[in-house]
This record gives sequence, C-alpha cells and structure tokens, in this order.
Amino acid sequence: RHMKVYDFYVKENNYTRICEQKSMLTVNGQFPGPTITAQKGEVFIVNVYNQGNKPITIHWHGVDQPRNPWHDGPEFITQCPINPGANFTYTVVLSEEEGTLWWHAHTEFDRASVHGAIIIHPKHGTDYPFKKPHKDIPIILGEWWKANVSHILEEALRTGSGINISDATTINGQPGDLFPCSEENTFKVSVKSGKTYLLRIINAGLTNDLFFGVAEHLLTIVGTEGRYLKPFTVENIMISPGQTMDALLQADRSSNSSYYMASRTFASRTNLVYNNSTATAILEYMDAPPIARSEPYFPNLPASDNITAATEYTSQLRSLASKDHPVDVPTHVDEHMLITLATNILPCQSCENGNRLAASLNNVSFDNPQTDILDAYYYSITGVFEKDFPKKPPFFFNFTNDSYSKEFRLTKAGTKVKVLNYSSVVEVVFQDTAMSNETHPMHLHGFAFYVVGMGVGNFDKTKDPSKYNLVDPPYQNTVTVPKLGWTAMRFRATNPGVWFMHCHFDRHTVWGMSTMFIVKEGNTPESRMRPRPSNMPKC
Ligand code: C2O
Ligand code: CU
Repeated sequence: RHMKVYDFYVKENNYTRICEQKSMLTVNGQFPGPTITAQKGEVFIVNVYNQGNKPITIHWHGVDQPRNPWHDGPEFITQCPINPGANFTYTVVLSEEEGTLWWHAHTEFDRASVHGAIIIHPKHGTDYPFKKPHKDIPIILGEWWKANVSHILEEALRTGSGINISDATTINGQPGDLFPCSEENTFKVSVKSGKTYLLRIINAGLTNDLFFGVAEHLLTIVGTEGRYLKPFTVENIMISPGQTMDALLQADRSSNSSYYMASRTFASRTNLVYNNSTATAILEYMDAPPIARSEPYFPNLPASDNITAATEYTSQLRSLASKDHPVDVPTHVDEHMLITLATNILPCQSCENGNRLAASLNNVSFDNPQTDILDAYYYSITGVFEKDFPKKPPFFFNFTNDSYSKEFRLTKAGTKVKVLNYSSVVEVVFQDTAMSNETHPMHLHGFAFYVVGMGVGNFDKTKDPSKYNLVDPPYQNTVTVPKLGWTAMRFRATNPGVWFMHCHFDRHTVWGMSTMFIVKEGNTPESRMRPRPSNMPKC
C-alpha cells in the first residue's frame, strides 16, 4: 500500500519579528512548519532528521495512534529523544480522526517554534457533513518570545517566581501590523466573494488561552480536534493551547474592503502579568479593485478578562451525533478518578530560595525520568516509575476556597502512573483549586474522551453526575477546565500502551502537572501493542 512520506529537517534558523532577530529551531526552515494533509484512516511516515543543537521528539497531537505508543513522541514517556545528528522515522496511524489536528515538538519548550497543522479530509467517496468548502485555510495561533525559550524554561525551573511572558501573539507566524516592524509581513489571505472557506484554527501557543475573530464575518463552528460538532455560529471563539477549531467562513462581504482577523489572550487569572497584545492578520477579497483601501474593519473580541464569554463559547460544543458520526458514550464506569490541579511549592536544593514553583495532579508533581517509561514497562525495568498515582486527592478540603490547607501548598515530586485494565471505562473529574485559580487545558494522549460535564465550584459527586450530557457530549483530546471549577470526561481504555496526560500550558507541564495511563494489553491480537521498532533512540 502506498504511503505518504514526509521529511522533517529540524534546524536552527534566524527569524526576525518585532524588530529583533533570533535563532530558533524550526522544521524545513518554515515557521509555522509544513502542513500535513491526509485522508481519514491513512497511515503516513515522517522521517525526522535532527540537525539542531539539542535533543528533540515530535508528537502527533490528537492522533490516537492505536496500539502504536512507540510513535507517540513525548520525551522520556514513550521514547528517548532524538539526539543532534541522529534521525528517527515516525509511523503515524490515523483511525477515526477527521478534521484538524497538529504536530509539535514534545521536548522542553521546543514546541514554541516546532509545530504545524495536520488536516484530515473525508475518505474518498465520503462527504463532509456540510457543503464542501472551497478551500482550507490553516490559522495557526502562536506566541513569539524575544528570548530563547530554553532560557525561559531554565529560569522557570530555577526561580521561585513566575515565568516570563511572551512578547507577541502570532497568526501563522506573524504578530501583525499593531507591532513595530511587522506591518509588511502581516499574514494575508485572499478570498473570493461567494465562496465558503474552512478555517482550521490551532492554538499552538505555550501559555495563553486565546480569543479569535474575523471582522464583519461570522464563524460557523463545525468541528474540534478531529471530530465534527453540531454547527453553531459565533462572532468569536475561545481556544486553549492544544485545541483546534474548524470554522466555516462565508466570503459574503463587500469586495472593496479588507478585514482584520485578530487574536488576543483570554486571561482567567488577571492578577498575574500576561501578554495583553493583539495579533492581526488581513482577510481581503481577490476581486477587489487595486485601489487604496480604507482602514480594515476590526473584529469584536471579548476583553481579556471576560470569563463569561469564554465559558459561553465552550458550553456550545456538542458532538454531531449523526448516523454517519455516531457517539458511544460509556454509561457504566469502572474507574472513578478525581484529580485536583494545583500550582505549588517544591523543595529544590539548586534553586534560588531552596524551593521553586511547581505544579501537581493530586499533589504529585511529575518528575520526568531519565529513561523512557514505555521501555521500562515493556522490559519490566524497575525503579523508573511507581504504579500508585492516586485516584483521589490525598486530603479533601474546600478546593475552590482561598482558605486552603497550607500542607497542600507544598508538593512532592514523583514518577507515578495509573495502570488500567484493557477496555475498562474511566471517568476523570479534573478539579481546579484555589492554589492554581486559573483555567487548565488538560490533554490526554492516545485517546479522545467525551466531555460529559463541566461546572463552577467543587464537583459534587452526589448531584453533578445526574446532569451529565450522555447524548451528544463533545469528543475532545484537550479540554479547558474552568477556573475554580471542574470538568468530567469519560473514555474506554481500548488502546494498549503508555499515554501521557498533562496540562497543555507548557509552564505547568514542566512544573509537573502531568501523569500517565498505562493501558494493559488484552488477550486478542487487536488488543496488543504493535511490535517495538528496533531503531528506537537510546537514552
Ligand atoms: Cu500537544 Cu503532550 O501534547
Ligand atoms: Cu495548567
């Protein structure tokens, strides 16, 4: 069978934005990196050549990779990183995904510049659940850091304080004309009046939830994270790091003007300093006469602290749940987990004040091991991880009230995993706490999950489950847990392997807001992992 093969050369290159030049890692000299297009159910191959100066891996975000954890990518979880000068070939196995996903580096903060879109079209002979769009337009939202992100990471792990914020938000790699020295290179897209376009919007940023909109054009949201949704129409969207949104845009405005697309931070925690700039791009009509245009129209975007706008947007996501795109929400649960999300203090000998900021799930701050967990599991190497990740927080208190217990503020590092039986049904309730007091985009590798419920305050296990949506909940791989609220999700553990679960704010990931599931193999051939590739990189 014929398979598409991509070559990714990861290299340092110089880029200039907001009047300053810096060197950073990119794929094939492109920022954002190359777009991969595929059909539903295809398998594609990516040869990654590390020609940079640091170890790297690539992850296929939102691709379930059935039985294929070997090629999932997170460093020290499913593989050792690819060293400078070395190469590794990924086999990426698509299954049920259709829509927009993306790929990114899964080492340290390298994701900042090593990322790109994965566009998955319907299989030949099958249709979109809406009128076929005239064209795809990838819209990759990102962040620009003047500093080298390795230095930012190093600082985040050493000091007891917060983290540097990015210097600009970007749309397809460009901050746009509200920034100095950027006007000329502002990203522009030309449309034809009368046509419908499919915007494939990705939040590839490291640290911010974002609002995004297009002036004078409504967006009809038809998909998220590789699954279709019941269409709904909005003026703007909220998208968290890791998420993708598919939006239809009808080019039905005057061809004599141009229109801004813009994106700005949604900051759920406004007592911290955040990047409050606005990135812009231009939508123009091809058939417009080549005369000097008036100032572009500007979209209506919610203010950065508008929590209501963000929550209202998120609450509109519903699975399509049609005959061709059915849902199958588990109604019986085998494993109930309640996981608290917190930012904490971790004792640290080499740190400035003898401690540093950390983050945790159920008060365990994840410690990345030196050798990869998948191999340790596969070869039964002891001493790499422990199987006792807690199913519930170590102590209960009023999670969303400021008067939390001081002992909870202090956390412990550990490499703890949760082991699941093949095919068991898991329900995870993520509970934000007053110790973090902000949204968290929680992401699971290897699976999509049904988001069955969401609410503010403390999850109440006697009342809240009766309000779950088991009919058409969105099927996602990255869900925004509301500030001082909770989110409940369910999935069936039918993918054997080792699957990382973490907050997709990278500062929280590196501070330890992560854990993983080890899903055991079953007894049938379809429930076994694919054979271990012989050329896995070595630690
Ligand atoms: Cu998009 Cu583990 O990441
Ligand atoms: Cu987080």
